Amino acid sequence: MPTLLALLKEDLANARAHDPAARGDVENALVYSGLHAIWMHRLAHRIWCRGGAGRGVARVLAQVARFLTGIEIHPGATIGRRFFIDHGMGVVIGETTEIGDDVMLYHGVTLGGRSLEKVKRHPTIGDGVTVGAGAKVLGPVTIGARSAIGANAVVTRDAPADSILTGVPATIRPRRADQRRPLVDPGCYIVGDGDGI
Ligand SMILES: CC(C)(COP(=O)(O)OP(=O)(O)OC[C@H]1O[C@@H](n2cnc3c(N)ncnc32)[C@H](O)[C@@H]1OP(=O)(O)O)[C@@H](O)C(=O)NCCC(=O)NCCS
Repeated sequence: MPTLLALLKEDLANARAHDPAARGDVENALVYSGLHAIWMHRLAHRIWCRGGAGRGVARVLAQVARFLTGIEIHPGATIGRRFFIDHGMGVVIGETTEIGDDVMLYHGVTLGGRSLEKVKRHPTIGDGVTVGAGAKVLGPVTIGARSAIGANAVVTRDAPADSILTGVPATIRPRRADQRRPLVDPGCYIVGDGDGI
């Protein structure tokens, strides 16, 4: 298992790759709430997995992260490498969520449950999936690798790999090869400091 420091460096490189507005590592480490949230989650998750009284500590850490970032990740959630949350505020990730590698979420995303039973009740998100702003993925559904979930979609069904999901409830269509470009926040091209124009 990589050390927390190695993951931290990988996360910083990942922020640069996903957000054209990202600049130096020191600045990014200070200003990206999504990085703060995943770093605190990685620590809380390791404590959670040891079980026992530490689970209370893990919950408190998650709560501190929520207070600081507006991003709520249950310490039981399993999250892969190079995970990135852009903008962050209003994200909720439930306890039994499983997220693969290279997944990106925007603000307002809920990976939530539809049942109060203590079973696997949250989504499984495949490698390379992007979840647009405000989208809700509810229940123990599986979203196949490299899929894209549109902004404000509500997803309650499984989707195969390479899907695009949009609408309420979400309809699923194949994601063509030419649509597999990474989705990035174009903000810097609108309000940039000159570098990006
Ligand atoms: C869903 C998404 C991935 C589709 O990307 P795409 O395949 O390139 O889609 P297109 O732009 O070619 O649009 C295809 C159709 O889907 C519609 N569509 C696109 N996004 C949609 C959405 N979120 N909800 C509903 N319909 C959507 C388009 O209007 C278009 O409809 P039309 O064929 O009737 O004209 C993308 O539009 C999206 O929502 N990305 C999330 C971006 C985001 O959250 N950004 C936040 C930045 S802060």
